[in-house]
Amino acid sequence: MKPKRLLIVEDNSFIARDTKRKVTKLGYKVADIVSSGEEAVEKAQNDPPPDLILMDIILEGDIDGVEAARQINIKQHIPIIYVTAYASKDLTQRVKLTGPYGYITKPFKDEELQNAVEIAFYKQEMEIKLFEARKMKAIGILAGGLAHDFNNILFPIMGYAELLKEELPSDGLLSEAAEEIFIGAGRASEVVKQLMVLSRPETLELQPIKVQSVLSGVLNTSNVLLSQSVKLEQNIEDCGLILADASQLYQVIMNLITNACHAIGEKKGVLTIDLTEKDFHHDSKQIRQPYVCLSICDTGAGMDQEIMGKMFDPYFSTKQKHQGSGLGLSVVRSIVESYNGKVLCESEPGRGTQFEIFFPRIITDDIKITEPETASESMGTGQICFVNNDSSVTALGKYNLESSGYQVTSFAGSQEALDFIQKAPEKFDLIIADIDMPHMTGDVLISKVKKIQPANRAILFTDHQKKISKEKAAQMGVDKVLEKPVEKNLLVTAVQALVQNKKE
Ligand SMILES: Nc1ncnc2c1ncn2[C@@H]1O[C@H](COP(=O)(O)OP(=O)(O)OP(=O)(O)O)[C@@H](O)[C@H]1O
Ligand SMILES: [Mg+2]
Repeated sequence: MKPKRLLIVEDNSFIARDTKRKVTKLGYKVADIVSSGEEAVEKAQNDPPPDLILMDIILEGDIDGVEAARQINIKQHIPIIYVTAYASKDLTQRVKLTGPYGYITKPFKDEELQNAVEIAFYKQEMEIKLFEARKMKAIGILAGGLAHDFNNILFPIMGYAELLKEELPSDGLLSEAAEEIFIGAGRASEVVKQLMVLSRPETLELQPIKVQSVLSGVLNTSNVLLSQSVKLEQNIEDCGLILADASQLYQVIMNLITNACHAIGEKKGVLTIDLTEKDFHHDSKQIRQPYVCLSICDTGAGMDQEIMGKMFDPYFSTKQKHQGSGLGLSVVRSIVESYNGKVLCESEPGRGTQFEIFFPRIITDDIKITEPETASESMGTGQICFVNNDSSVTALGKYNLESSGYQVTSFAGSQEALDFIQKAPEKFDLIIADIDMPHMTGDVLISKVKKIQPANRAILFTDHQKKISKEKAAQMGVDKVLEKPVEKNLLVTAVQALVQNKKE
């Protein structure tokens, strides 16, 4: 790491020389020595600016150190430590208004200067972290709201496009149009997924997963990305399990590979993917921890320091409109850090970029890996009660279930459904209710239905904003929670499993 550069503002040449000696002895660099407030303001605007300013108060020129600090603060954010022999109540008030990082009185010892400078840098680091955390929180809230509204809109768009694809003759223009709508809505749903990660990285239930199985899935589907110009080299070892969510892991890998391919662009280049187990020193603690390390390295355009400083910011993108939303890397970092992992990056303009992702490896090996469920081809049988106040969701759900063999009775309100079930408790095998219902929410309806007919199976539709914990869902008698938008395959699979389970 380069030594930090300090600007010394001091009108007494003897003290200035002494301060320079002390600063150098402590391992810092002196960016400049100036004797007036005006010069201090000017030097603060240099490129690169100093990392910290040691500011005397009484100076040559028309403005004093406090006024110089005030002017610097308007344009930049550089930590300032006042170094002065002079103190008064009034002065302290003025000094406070400039938000100083420290205040030391002359004459001072080496250790005093060292403490003041170290504390100032630490304070600056903490401020940046706090700012970052607040920014991510605000973006998270915004993203969450957006994702919620968008999901509700996408649910019928995707569902009806799927329905049209099934119903229309497969060789016509209309069927192609339906396919395009489905693909477009699918892309929008990917953006929603990215936004959701930013708003709730911590709430997913993680499963033991092997990175290599998700990685091979990505490589199979990312052929389109790998143009003629990209040569793929891979060294994928059989690594241990990590705790992750498969679709999030897919997102991480896909975002990194997409970026690498974009960076290579039309020129010839190499994309190297390595997956190995590595030990890694954990920050301050000198313990080595086992990690599964995924390295994605490209020989593309690379990045300069300025871009690297911003690359994780949500919505930061150097790509042209429609080519990038600037969410990819912020999502990568959110996901990896929520797994207690690390993202390292090295890059050089014109030479290329390497991202290394460290996922903590699970130490115990005898953990069952859950295989994704898929709907069986055969038609199902059973009576379903579908409760939803959104008619487009109901019509779609009804169609999807009826075309899979089930008989569906739908209700637009919870009370209506409950009245019906009270009169005919044996009628249904399964109830599907939406959590977001007026007067009586879906989970409450399910708990009442279970009291009347405990054998009934129950699915609750939730969304990003209206969620329910696993424990609460179980308490209310919910057998399966499905988050909207629910694809046909997912819905039918869940219904098949629960109806089958009831019959057994
Ligand atoms: N492998 C890479 N090589 C060079 N630059 C990169 C690389 N990865 C990321 N960047 C830079 O970081 C920026 C932010 O990346 P990020 O993935 O967050 O957004 P994006 O790719 O621009 O858009 P999105 O991923 O949302 O489609 C990019 O626009 C690019 O300038
Ligand atoms: Mg990207």
